[in-house]
This record gives sequence, C-alpha cells and structure tokens, in this order.
Amino acid sequence: MDIGRVQDVSDLNDWLKERNLNGHWNHSDREHEEFKPFLWKWPEIHAGLMKATELVPMDMTGRRTVQLRNPELRGRMSNTIHMSIQCVMPGEIAEAHRHTAAAIRYVIHGVSGAYTVVDGEPLPMETGDLITTPGWCFHDHINEGSEPVMWLDVLDARIVALGRGLGETYPGRQQPRERAIGYSNKTQGHVKASWLKHERLTPPAMRYPWTETDAAIQALRESEVEPDPYDGYHVTYTHPINGGPTLPTFACELQIGSPRLTTQDHRHISTTIYQAFRGSGVTVVDGERLEWSEGDIFVVPPWSWHHHENVSDSDNILFSVDDWPTFKALDLYREEGKDA
Ligand SMILES: [Fe+2]
Ligand SMILES: [Fe+2]
Repeated sequence: MDIGRVQDVSDLNDWLKERNLNGHWNHSDREHEEFKPFLWKWPEIHAGLMKATELVPMDMTGRRTVQLRNPELRGRMSNTIHMSIQCVMPGEIAEAHRHTAAAIRYVIHGVSGAYTVVDGEPLPMETGDLITTPGWCFHDHINEGSEPVMWLDVLDARIVALGRGLGETYPGRQQPRERAIGYSNKTQGHVKASWLKHERLTPPAMRYPWTETDAAIQALRESEVEPDPYDGYHVTYTHPINGGPTLPTFACELQIGSPRLTTQDHRHISTTIYQAFRGSGVTVVDGERLEWSEGDIFVVPPWSWHHHENVSDSDNILFSVDDWPTFKALDLYREEGKDA
C-alpha cells in the first residue's frame, strides 16, 4: 500500500506492519509475556525421566534432562529462570562443559559416589544438598554409585539470553579431579584463606549439605522466633563471599510450613519456582489453588498474590529459586504484602 492511500488508523496500522513498524496506539499485536501459575506433578516428571534413562543413552545427549515448559510460554518455564530434572545412572558421565549461565543443583535423590565436578573439585550429591556452579566454571556429573542420582537443575539462562549465552565443551569428557572433596567449602566458607581472595574471578562452587540446612531450620523451628508472615520459617542459601543471595542472578531458599499454618498474601515482581521437597500443601496464586504433594514443582509468576497453606498435621518443606537478586540489582524490585 502506498502511504497516499492510507485513509484511516486501521490502514495506517497495516501500512506500518508491512514495514515492521507499529504505532504505540495499536495494542493488537503487543506481545504478552505474562503467564499463569502452573504445577507439574512429580509422578509424571519421574516416569518420563526414568523412561529416558532406557531410551536416551548419554552419547545421544550432553545432558539427560527433562525440561519444564509452561504451556503459555513457548519453550520456557518462566521468563527468567530455567529448570530441568536430570538423572545420571550408575557408571554414567554427563560430560564436561561450561557456559556463561550460572546453575545450581538441588539433589532430590542423592547417591554416595555421585559427584558434580566443578573446576576440578568433586562435590558430593547427597539428598537435599545444594550445589552451585557459578558461570563459566567447567562442570561434569559422574555417578560411581549403585543407584540413579537425580536433581533439579536451575539456570539463569533466560537472563543471560538478554544478551547472548556463550558456552564451550571441555577437551575430553571428564575433568581430572585435582582438588580434594570439600576444598572450596573449607577454604572459602566461614574460614577463608585470606591471601587467596582473588584466586578466581567468579565465586567458588559451593556445596550446602542437607545436614547443615536441616540443622538451621530445626534451630529456627525450636526457637522463640516468630516465623515470617508470608513464608513461614524461611532461609536463604547465602553467597560465600559477600553473604548476599546464592548467585548474582537468583537466590535459592527453603521454607518450612508448620502444621495448619496459613501464611499471608503477598506479591512481588520476582518469579518464584518451588519444589515440594517434603510433605504436601496448597499454594494459592491469584485465587487458584495449587495442591502440591512431595516432588511436585510449580511456578508463581511475577506480581501474583500468593500464600501457602499447610493443611496437614506435619511440617512441609518447600525448596525454591527466586530471581529477586536480578531485580534488586537493577532497582526494579517491588513487593506488597496484604495483612490477613
Ligand atoms: Fe551445564
Ligand atoms: Fe512470595
């Protein structure tokens, strides 16, 4: 169409569209990145992953993972954080590579003899352990145990993709295990090797063993401290160097809901992805009741009112990842609470 033949706004919208332009007044082709809460049931994830261990050999894929996909977001689970479930069978190796995206592993079925090796350091994978793989660290996963090892993989890949994610394979399938187990935790945790402060550009890979996390939450649970009105007894896995969130882009957290606890509604601009680590409960998101059982995974989209209900007579535990560090770093974070 020639511009001279444009008679009305509809014509003009069409004329602009043909030239890959759009008027701010035209809402018809605005892209919607909003999405609804969604819950994935563990028995289905598990069944798919177990079938993959039979049908997908490790020489067919760099990583045998089942990715969670939100039906409203093509190929994604959220706009920022990506989550998959990975399984490595006894004797298998998920070969070494590195990428600019940072990752964490939260072990849901740990095995003695299974390790994530990060820059030459083997980090054991016991149930409930959290292991970080900061960006651009070489990492491979090995299972020298006698049972399948399974964990949640969480990456800031969507945030990194605001630019372009980079990656490369390691020369060889496996890195040599050059460092002793526990090296980074021992030397860059509470007691630091002061003269090695600048040994790495990135923070070290850390392991947060379940025994320590469990001790922290039990101590809080037994204390006189009032739980958080929105999240119950809630802890953050802190960054070993600066004491801030687990990684620059997202925080790993864990919360206990005591029996019959109902938290208050709040909403925040960050996205939270939860895994029901122990027990069952209900999370109400913008009026929708997500009823979860052990192992289920669900996503609470940004700026959605939500609260948690423990409808059982025993404690429940939710593990979560939340991208609030990204939003705080950019001065975009907002949060609102509603009193009960
Ligand atoms: Fe990776
Ligand atoms: Fe929240």
